[in-house]
Amino acid sequence: MTPTFISAEAVPSDTEVLGVPVFADLNLPAGAGATVNRRFLSAMGFEGRHGQTERLQAEDGSIVVAVGVGPADELDTDALRRAGAGFVRSVGRARRAAVTLPAAARGRVAAGRAVQAVVEGIALGGYRFTAHKAQKAGQKTASPSLDSVAVIGADHGGVRRGQLVAAAVLRARDWVNEPPRSMTPRHLALRAEALASQTGLDVDVWDEDRLASERMGGLLGVAAGAAEPPRLIRLVYDPPAARGEVALVGKGITFDSGGLSLKTSDGMRTMKGDMGGAAAVLSAMGALTALGVRVRVFGYACCTENMPSGTAIHVGDVLTARNGTTIEVLNTDAEGRLVLADGLSLAAESRPDAIIDLATLTGGQRVALGSQVAALMANDDKLAGRVLAAAGRAGEPAWRLPLWPAYRPHLDSEVADLKNIGQPNNASTIIAGLFLQEFVGGRPWAHLDIASPSWSDTDDGWVTKGGTGWGVRTLLEMLKEWEALRGR
Ligand code: BES
Ligand code: MN
Ligand code: ZN
Repeated sequence: MTPTFISAEAVPSDTEVLGVPVFADLNLPAGAGATVNRRFLSAMGFEGRHGQTERLQAEDGSIVVAVGVGPADELDTDALRRAGAGFVRSVGRARRAAVTLPAAARGRVAAGRAVQAVVEGIALGGYRFTAHKAQKAGQKTASPSLDSVAVIGADHGGVRRGQLVAAAVLRARDWVNEPPRSMTPRHLALRAEALASQTGLDVDVWDEDRLASERMGGLLGVAAGAAEPPRLIRLVYDPPAARGEVALVGKGITFDSGGLSLKTSDGMRTMKGDMGGAAAVLSAMGALTALGVRVRVFGYACCTENMPSGTAIHVGDVLTARNGTTIEVLNTDAEGRLVLADGLSLAAESRPDAIIDLATLTGGQRVALGSQVAALMANDDKLAGRVLAAAGRAGEPAWRLPLWPAYRPHLDSEVADLKNIGQPNNASTIIAGLFLQEFVGGRPWAHLDIASPSWSDTDDGWVTKGGTGWGVRTLLEMLKEWEALRGR
C-alpha cells in the first residue's frame, strides 16, 4: 500500500520520523530539531549527495533523517525525486512520517512541481510487489509499513498530482510484475475494463473473432502459437471541448518466449515484462480524468503471448497487416513490430494529431543507451521535441535515434512488401523504428523503445526491482500541457 500524503503547516505531533533535506554544503536548516550539525554529518561520511541519507536522533527522541539533495544551485525535480526515494528507504518500520522541503527549491523549482517530485519519489521508491508473498503468522505485513506522510508547507495541488501520477506508475508496475499466467491478454483486458469504469473512460475489447474480421493479421499471426487468445484493448478519453486528439499505442506481449525462434532460458527471465508499453499506456490513461487533461486520447494495447507450438507461425510465413502491407516473418522473436503494425494502422485511421507508441521492442536499445535512457524515434521534429522535453521533465530521459532512410532497404523482402528483421547486430533499434514507420499512414508519430528502462534488477532512486512503470510519467507530462502541434 502506498502511504497517504497530506499537506500540513507544521510537523504533526505523532510523527515518528522526519525527513530533512540537506544540501551538499551540509548546513541543516534551522528548526530541524536535531542536536547534530555539519561536523557530525561529515564525520559520519554524509556528503549531501543525491538521495544519501543519515539517521539522527532528535532532542525529543524522535528520528530525523538527513536526506542529501546535492548542491543548492543544481537543485531540480530529479534531485527531489531521488531525495524522496532515499528517504522512504530509510524509515524502517515507522508508520507516520513527515518531510520538509528545501527552502531553495522555491527559487529554482516551482513550488507545486517540487512537492510533486518529492511525493513521487516517496511513493515510487517505497514500492514493493508483495501480491504473491505468503503472509507468515505474527508478521503484520510483508510490505513497507508507512501509513502517512505529512509534507510540511506543501502546495496542495502538488501533493495531489504527485499521488495521482505515482498511483498510475505503481499500477503499471503491478501489471508488469504479475506472473504471466495471471496476466494474460484476457486478464489485462479485465484490468483495463475495471480501470475504465473507475475513471470514466470508454473501453472496447476485440476478441479473436473480431480481430479476424478487422484484418489484424500481425497480432493474429503472433498469437497463432498461443493457447491463450489475443486481445486488442482500446481506451478512450474524450473530455468536453477537447483540444485535438492523440493516439497512444502499447506493445502488450504478456510473455515473449520468442516463438519458434525460441529465446534462451536466460533471455526469457524478464519477458513477462514485454507488456510494459501496454501497461504504461493503459495505466497512464487512468489518470487523465483526475488530472483534467484537455486533449482527446485514444489508447490501444496490442496484447498476445508469443509462444512456440504446432500452430505457431513458421519462419517464412507471410502475414498481412491491417493496412494491407504484407510481412515475411524471418524471425518469430521480432514479434513486437508485428502486433504494433496493426495497432499503429488502426490508430492512424482516426487521423489523430499525433501517434505515440511505447514498446519493449529491441535488445539493441540496451546496447545503445542502457537502462536509464529510452530510445526515441520520430517522423516529426516538433513532436520529437515535445516528447523529449516531457521525458526530461518526468525524469525518464530519452535520446533520439535517426530513422535513417538509407537503412530502409534492409527490410526489403524477396516475397512480401517487408521482412520483419534486418541484418544481424546492425542498427536493430533503428531498423525496428523504420519498420513501424510503414504503418503510421504519414501521421506525426513518435516511437519510444523502452526495452531496458521498463525493467530493473536493482533498486535505484525512484526505480524499484521488476517493472518500473517507465513512460507513464512522460505521457502524463506531455498530455497535461498538450497544445496543437501546428496552427490550424
Ligand atoms: N521483447 C524483445 C526485446 C527485449 C529484449 C526487451 C530484452 C527487453 C529486454 C523483442 O521482442 C525481441 O525479441 N527483439 C529481438 C528482435 C530481433 C530478433 C530482430 C531483439 O532485439 O533481439
Ligand atoms: Mn521477441
Ligand atoms: Zn518482445
